[in-house]
Amino acid sequence: MALNLHPKPVYLLPTSMEITLKRHMRRTPIHILSHKLSASRVSLLQRCCNGRRLSVVHAVKEEQMQSSATIESQTSETNPSSSKLVLVVGGTGGVGQLIVASLLQRKIKSRLLLRDPAKAKSLFGVHDENVLKIWKGDTRNPGDLDPTIFEGVTHIICCTGTTAFPSRRWEGDNTPERVDWEGVRNLVSALPQNVQRFVLVSSVGVTKFNALPWSIMNLFGVLKFKKMGEDFIQKSGLPFTIIRAGRLTGGPYTSYDLNTLLKATAGKRRAVVVRQGDKLIGEVSRLVVAEACMQALDIEFTEGQIYEINSIEGEGPGEDPEKWRELFKAAETN
Ligand SMILES: NC(=O)c1ccc[n+]([C@@H]2O[C@H](COP(=O)([O-])OP(=O)(O)OC[C@H]3O[C@@H](n4cnc5c(N)ncnc54)[C@H](OP(=O)(O)O)[C@@H]3O)[C@@H](O)[C@H]2O)c1
Repeated sequence: MALNLHPKPVYLLPTSMEITLKRHMRRTPIHILSHKLSASRVSLLQRCCNGRRLSVVHAVKEEQMQSSATIESQTSETNPSSSKLVLVVGGTGGVGQLIVASLLQRKIKSRLLLRDPAKAKSLFGVHDENVLKIWKGDTRNPGDLDPTIFEGVTHIICCTGTTAFPSRRWEGDNTPERVDWEGVRNLVSALPQNVQRFVLVSSVGVTKFNALPWSIMNLFGVLKFKKMGEDFIQKSGLPFTIIRAGRLTGGPYTSYDLNTLLKATAGKRRAVVVRQGDKLIGEVSRLVVAEACMQALDIEFTEGQIYEINSIEGEGPGEDPEKWRELFKAAETN
């Protein structure tokens, strides 16, 4: 459907996407929004906001949960029954922090590849390198992805990302094109072929970025570039699982201690819906996405599969591997 066929396209958006777009429009200066958009698309954005003048000066500041709590537990042992060495890329992000906290709690050896080691240390504390080793690197720079980073790594979880719309997080050209496409491509290209699983966090709607309502979210290409990243992984020959998240809720977290992170709940929406075929629209808590990534590492039939995931009200699978197996299995038949 062409973008200009509907007089008020925002009403076609799923509520969650409408909220995201409106929140962004409240905070983003029109000169930033328009710098990569055609006049017709700027006009579309203005209509989405019911003609409101887009003049707010501040760039997007992500919703943040702040805590002054300090790191209480620092692990020095690993689980002898786990032979995994998991590399997390994007571990300082909302989903990424929960994944790292979960790896530490399960005493699974991990490596972090990230741009700001000081930030990681303030989030996770200092650990024995055998337990948690931090590598500094920017996925946009192939030169940062040295083969030694991947030595011994058995599994990778990539949860990098930037904002869908222009914000401070785009500074230094850290745009969806550079992060979700080029960064993912660089990372996949740098990995040894013997890794056991590469899990990528992507987004619902990537196969439909030209159609409403997704075309709104894709005004700056985020869904298109995520799809390019997905396609590259699929063609790479690596054993992959792609988890396409709905609109993320909960966090991102900053300066959170591990215990607090792991107690983060999805409120009443702890039940999980997993589907295939990019038909889901809705929300999902970051906690659920993090747990889905962790579980997919160990469920063999998730290899080579793409799943969409949402949270809904009700009791959830928690960390129960059997319940997650059932959820992923059921996705194939629904
Ligand atoms: N927000 C939503 O509603 C939504 C919906 C569906 C899917 N998603 C996707 O879900 C994933 C996780 O989302 P999230 O909100 O947890 O992410 P987030 O908080 O935005 O974290 C993104 C992570 O990516 C890292 N990163 C960004 N650019 C990088 C680069 N050039 N090189 C290396 N690392 C880089 C960031 O590191 P720094 O700390 O250095 O910035 C951060 O650790 C993302 O791919 C996101 O696009 C989001």
